[in-house]
Amino acid sequence: MIGPESRKMNWNLTDDQQMVRDMVREFVAAEVAPNAAEWDRGKYFPSEIFEKLGELGLFGMVADEEYGGAGLDLIGYCLALEELARGDASTCVAISVTNSLFCAPLQRYGTSEQKERFLCPCVNGEWLGAFCLSESGAGSDAAALSTIARREGDDFVLSGSKAWVTNGAVCGAMLVFAVTDPESARSRVSAFVIPADHPGASIVHEEDKLGIRSSRTNQVALDDCRIPREWMLGEEGQGLAIALNSLDGGRAGIAAQAVGIGHAALAFTLDYVREREAFGGPIGRFGGLQEKLGTMAARIRAARLLYLRAAWLRDNGEPDTMAASCAKLFASEMANWVSYQAVQMHGAYGYVTDYPIERLYRDARVTTIYEGTSEIQRLVIARQLTSGSG
Ligand code: CAA
Repeated sequence: MIGPESRKMNWNLTDDQQMVRDMVREFVAAEVAPNAAEWDRGKYFPSEIFEKLGELGLFGMVADEEYGGAGLDLIGYCLALEELARGDASTCVAISVTNSLFCAPLQRYGTSEQKERFLCPCVNGEWLGAFCLSESGAGSDAAALSTIARREGDDFVLSGSKAWVTNGAVCGAMLVFAVTDPESARSRVSAFVIPADHPGASIVHEEDKLGIRSSRTNQVALDDCRIPREWMLGEEGQGLAIALNSLDGGRAGIAAQAVGIGHAALAFTLDYVREREAFGGPIGRFGGLQEKLGTMAARIRAARLLYLRAAWLRDNGEPDTMAASCAKLFASEMANWVSYQAVQMHGAYGYVTDYPIERLYRDARVTTIYEGTSEIQRLVIARQLTSGSG
């Protein structure tokens, strides 16, 4: 037995899962992949492409049909993310955060009023979502937040600063985590949904990044931001559990993103080693390169199976924390290793912007950092093992 689940995984994709994968693959090949290098060079957020992605329903893939969503399961959603990342990891992360870290918690913990107001615009392709957990002094230690939400009558007033917010400058609403009970050692944190243009909420900084350069990463300031109690998601004090549960789903998605990056790096490398000649023939015939290519392909396939398994467990209501962390850890380390080997096999061509390899290498780097570093994934896995949950 490889896990605690009681049911057996079906390895055949459903019609819906195949349909979404094929639709996204086709769209990415036509509209995303050919432009990714230019967007990256100009740090350009392609709003016109996001309009089309919104029309295709990709902002609210995981939302229930009751709210107009596709009600797609996590397997279908992760397959879509892999396809997006094959073309452009930046586009992929904007969609991933919107679905995994905004729509999914709203779907799971939101009231029907909250879903109408904040989830439906994602489903309709009107806005992207953001997730404001990290702060400059609270990244891996997610419980150590200093953003405060103080109670004033029927309102909460939020003050603080959020860091590393994907989609901050381009979202319609954000999920914000803040301390509601500073005196308490546990259950200090609550979750709130806040429209991006709400008074008191503002974008104060845009990060200039090594990779995923056409995505937006911002610092968000909350300056006496007054919101009604109805915008609290879940129960008071439930915030950290909401964040960590959402990150379990998000981590399977980042694993899928990493597989997309690794797959693209291998595909470009195969083209290159077939074409490039040295010492009287194509370089792909050399044993040293074949050994690398074989390992790349095996690791990509292993990572794909890990994210599919994590997604399947979540889809079936089984514990997925361990599987999500294993998938995120392995896939992100794989994407870094595979893209490193891809640069090496391209030689000097891998180092210049004329070829897509250096971008994939830079884009892969963040996958071992965001939504929990590799060190945090190992810690989560070890805790699951030692507590007997794994
Ligand atoms: N699902 C639901 N609840 C969970 C959970 C899970 N997977 N894991 C823990 N919890 C609950 C616990 O039961 C506990 O609840 P009680 O207090 O009621 O008992 C509570 O959450 C706190 O759990 P821990 O005591 O285990 O928490 P901890 O302080 O020891 O930290 C941690 C655990 C694993 C280190 C966690 O803080 C963590 O994952 N850190 C990394 C955070 C992270 O991934 N940040 C990325 C931010 S998003 C981003 O990258 C930006 C972006 O836009 C992409």
